[in-house]
Amino acid sequence: MERIEDEKPKKVTLYLIYCVATAVIGSLQFGYNTGVINAPEQKLRNFFHNVSVERYDEPFSQGTNTMVFSFSVAIFSVGGMIGSFCVGAMVNRFGRRKSMLLSNILAVIGGVLMGLSALSRSFEMVIIGRFVIGVFCGLCTGLTPMYVGEITPTTVRGAFGTLHQLGVVIGILVAQIFGLESLLGSAELWPLLLALTTLPAVLQTIMLPFCPESPRYLLIVLKQEEEARKALVRLRGTEDVEEDMQEMREEGMKMSMEKKVTILELFRSPLYRQPIIIAIVLQLSQQLSGINAVFYYSTGIFESAGVSQPIYATIGAGVVNTVFTVVSLFLVERAGRRTLHLIGLAGMAISALFMTLSLALGATYPSLSYMAIVAVFGFVASFEMGPGPIPWFIVAELFSQGPRPAAMAVSGLSNWTANFLVGLTFRKLEELCGPYVFIIFMIFLIFFFIFTYLRVPETKGRTFDDIAQGFATSAGKPTHSPVPPVTNSVPVNIGAAPTSPT
Ligand code: GLC
Repeated sequence: MERIEDEKPKKVTLYLIYCVATAVIGSLQFGYNTGVINAPEQKLRNFFHNVSVERYDEPFSQGTNTMVFSFSVAIFSVGGMIGSFCVGAMVNRFGRRKSMLLSNILAVIGGVLMGLSALSRSFEMVIIGRFVIGVFCGLCTGLTPMYVGEITPTTVRGAFGTLHQLGVVIGILVAQIFGLESLLGSAELWPLLLALTTLPAVLQTIMLPFCPESPRYLLIVLKQEEEARKALVRLRGTEDVEEDMQEMREEGMKMSMEKKVTILELFRSPLYRQPIIIAIVLQLSQQLSGINAVFYYSTGIFESAGVSQPIYATIGAGVVNTVFTVVSLFLVERAGRRTLHLIGLAGMAISALFMTLSLALGATYPSLSYMAIVAVFGFVASFEMGPGPIPWFIVAELFSQGPRPAAMAVSGLSNWTANFLVGLTFRKLEELCGPYVFIIFMIFLIFFFIFTYLRVPETKGRTFDDIAQGFATSAGKPTHSPVPPVTNSVPVNIGAAPTSPT
């Protein structure tokens, strides 16, 4: 009993675009704060050096300075771990729209702390500010896709869902451009560069009151039929919203039929063990690929490889990143998730090898600095083909309505934890391994390639029921889910999961 999706194309109204644009400011914020620490690395290190001389009459040792800098980078992800894990509880208490409004308070606090750190001669304010901004970004990575997924018509939910990753990569690019020495990346202006995140927060705060609360939340969680209908009428630009209402009522019914699954049960039950391991490993493959070693530190990497204008190479990486996210957007429904993920991982492993060669031989053969640029671009392009966008949405596809919220919480936490470990250890590893540091990521990439080849099923065009059946059969427990199949020809966004992680 498959539902036919494209009977009548749903209208994408200007008002819907306004609401999605408002929410995607959150994705931009996540990207901006991911990329912003890269360009002013040397300025921040000088600041830490000067503060230490002023306070203790002696500069931090090279090692301590590296530790303090790496800590400012990595504490962002600790905040992210906390934020991403709190999304479920927050949205059920305050709703989607108010949660986004409230989260902006954190952006303002974090931005102001970092902005005033130089004036206050306090490197601690940079670290605390980065932590607060991290919590904010952890919330954004859940709130934005959830709200966008819940307000868009099913037929375009996949396309709109990918706007989250596009927002992220554009945010990274903007941070790289503003980080130019001639713009805000100078010794005097870097605090402003870090504080700039307050502006989009204010903008979103002004725009949000004109957006409706998510109709799915109003109907399924609050049981406010009339309010949900009103919101839908505004979003769709038509009085005829009965079809959407019916679809949401069905989703509500399915939810009440399926048992809520706790995090512990995800690991205990043979039904969920295999998909949760796949979900976690895919998230780890995204972060342990070393992508953020590039986005946090690429300027330094290019410098070591002898590139004379490293910041422009960094911006080039941001452009390649954006272009290939768009490419993947068009390919993912054709080539399939598994194939693209495999191609991406293989491309990254090969690029990591070339990065290593250019770093190792760059000092002897200066012309190899060009190879470093090409290798980093290849690394980033391969990432956006698969390992960038796919892990975020495939988790939602691997689970049905009941276990999905818990699975999202666990996989979000895994992603941010691995992000934290890479941010914290990369500089130290680089000191230890020198030009061979990317070999570590290459080994991880080869492992993830083999795992994906052996264990990850293709989910393109399959119904949730079909995917769940596949796992149940291989666990030796064929079962018939009480949930009628839902066609899944567009990637289903985490927004389809309106309950809290339990
Ligand atoms: C993904 C990752 C994020 C990374 C970005 C790079 O969104 O989750 O950590 O910085 O891609 O494009």
